[in-house]
Amino acid sequence: MQIRSAEFKCSNTRTDKLPLPELPEYAFIGRSNVGKSSLINMLTQKKGLAKTSQTPGKTQLINHFLINEDWYLVDLPGYGYARASKTNRGEWERFIRYYLKNRENLQCVFVLIDSRLEPQKVDKDFCAWLGEHGIPFVLVFTKADKQSRLKTEQSVSKFKKAMLEYFEEVPPQFITSSESKNGREEVLAFIHDINARFIPPTSNNNA
Ligand code: GTP
Ligand code: MG
Repeated sequence: MQIRSAEFKCSNTRTDKLPLPELPEYAFIGRSNVGKSSLINMLTQKKGLAKTSQTPGKTQLINHFLINEDWYLVDLPGYGYARASKTNRGEWERFIRYYLKNRENLQCVFVLIDSRLEPQKVDKDFCAWLGEHGIPFVLVFTKADKQSRLKTEQSVSKFKKAMLEYFEEVPPQFITSSESKNGREEVLAFIHDINARFIPPTSNNNA
């Protein structure tokens, strides 16, 4: 899929209104610093579109980006951000979980996993929660440029094995690097296929 345009649409806190759910939407989530915002910039080929930083906790709001005037990418704050206060973290959790459970145009959640790490409990728990709520998701292994292909493949296998403790099947996986653009075509092709099948939620007028 060609990216013809990518623009920032809006940032929201839990009290503000999200865009109308008329277009297919994809949310990026994962631990702080895993590379969510960088991946959005890599996919759209717009460096400063989503704010990135070496300091965890950069993304604080729920940010919508409109792509090709046809679908949304959503950048979410990272989970497991140690410096946020407990209260903030609790509020974040409630808001994000509410969003994930109720957003009717949300087609798929991209759960980002640092390809250099052993399977992390917080990631496994989050995937299990998505599964329990029937929220479709895929796994995206990030920062593949930082190590050998073999090491990345070993990480992916370990995570898949851990997932099989919760699931009968493992969801699709992508191996990506925002530096080398590895995985870009695959992720965009996946989104393109879902977009082609999207039927906008109907209004209640005919009910
Ligand atoms: P929060 O918004 O804080 O939750 O973080 P995030 O998940 O959005 O991460 P972000 O994209 O801000 O990236 C965090 C750091 O990792 C930055 O210094 C990025 O440059 C770096 N980074 C992200 N992706 C990659 C990658 O694929 N390869 C390399 N080498 N570095 C990356
Ligand atoms: Mg971010």
